Amino acid sequence: MTNHDRNGLENNLAREIEYNDAMSRRYDADYHAYPIMKRHTRDFVKYTASYIRPGHRILDLGCASASLWSDFGECLDASVTLVGVDVSPEMLNVAREKHPQSDFRVGSMTEIPADNSEFDVVIVSSAFHHISDAQLPVALNEIHRILSEHGTLVGREPLGVGRLGDRGGSLAGALMSLRHIAYRFTDARDLPEPNPGPDHHAYDAESFLRTIESVFALTDIAFVNPVSHFLSRSKSAIVVEVAMMLDAVARHKEGQEVHYVAQKNFYGVHEHESLIDQALRENEIHDLTEFLAFLDEAGRAMQSLIPATEVKRDRNRAWLTEKRLQYLNGLKR
Ligand SMILES: C[S@@+](CC[C@H](N)C(=O)[O-])C[C@H]1O[C@@H](n2cnc3c(N)ncnc32)[C@H](O)[C@@H]1O
Repeated sequence: MTNHDRNGLENNLAREIEYNDAMSRRYDADYHAYPIMKRHTRDFVKYTASYIRPGHRILDLGCASASLWSDFGECLDASVTLVGVDVSPEMLNVAREKHPQSDFRVGSMTEIPADNSEFDVVIVSSAFHHISDAQLPVALNEIHRILSEHGTLVGREPLGVGRLGDRGGSLAGALMSLRHIAYRFTDARDLPEPNPGPDHHAYDAESFLRTIESVFALTDIAFVNPVSHFLSRSKSAIVVEVAMMLDAVARHKEGQEVHYVAQKNFYGVHEHESLIDQALRENEIHDLTEFLAFLDEAGRAMQSLIPATEVKRDRNRAWLTEKRLQYLNGLKR
């Protein structure tokens, strides 16, 4: 990396800190007080909670003002440990006011202030889209370092392509006109913000997930909130109900946001069997055919002992490995 590149990265990070420091006192009100946004957060926290077990050590990376922590408090077992990291000192000051006993650390996701294998689960809620594409693999390798051997990364990010509105034409117009009608009739509006800087961007799901897969095994993806996101600044109960109904009817196929789960060192029965198939095709181990049959059986027998949540990961993983490209391509019309 040249000095010029390094200076550029440092300038972008300084700008990111400045932006988030400036947003810190209004962040909860602007992004977590609106009923539709609250529902989106609650849905994500529930999704996350299904991967958390009693005693887990959890890092909320890019935690901001601990904006998810009241939902975590309601969904997580009291035995879990929750730590927050954010690059913005002012966001963490707000977080500490709300949770004075908790461990909040100032630091960047590209150099996480945590020990190797310190956490079982890392949560990244809408924070990766604040860093550049070049920094994403750096952050993922840092998360890999601080996760325990079979640790899990659970996250959500906003998407910039493949959404319902990106089909264009009159459909996009109809979604936008619904938004204008709803906002006009409920006196809602978008809020002006400082410039977030050049690193801030929404993702193309496929290239984002491919980068995740360069470091972790994806074990789940879900595209959510195809319509409600358009209406999220309205507080009207009628608009909220209509928004949720439209999401349900659209069946979340072309969402504004992706939820995903990725795991460190993931080997399930699917991986085990395909490695055994490969081994059987390799000439040099022909004398071990019988042994490989036992190895195959041993994998299946152990699989039958693992908890239902882990079986779900195996099933999802097999499905994602085989169908993912078709599925993602099907989202792009
Ligand atoms: C949109 S907010 C999301 C906050 C929270 N996770 C949520 O879902 O409400 C993004 C957060 O990521 C933080 N952030 C941006 N770049 C970061 C970096 N390089 N390392 C750590 N945190 C970062 C920002 O300071 C900000 O608090």
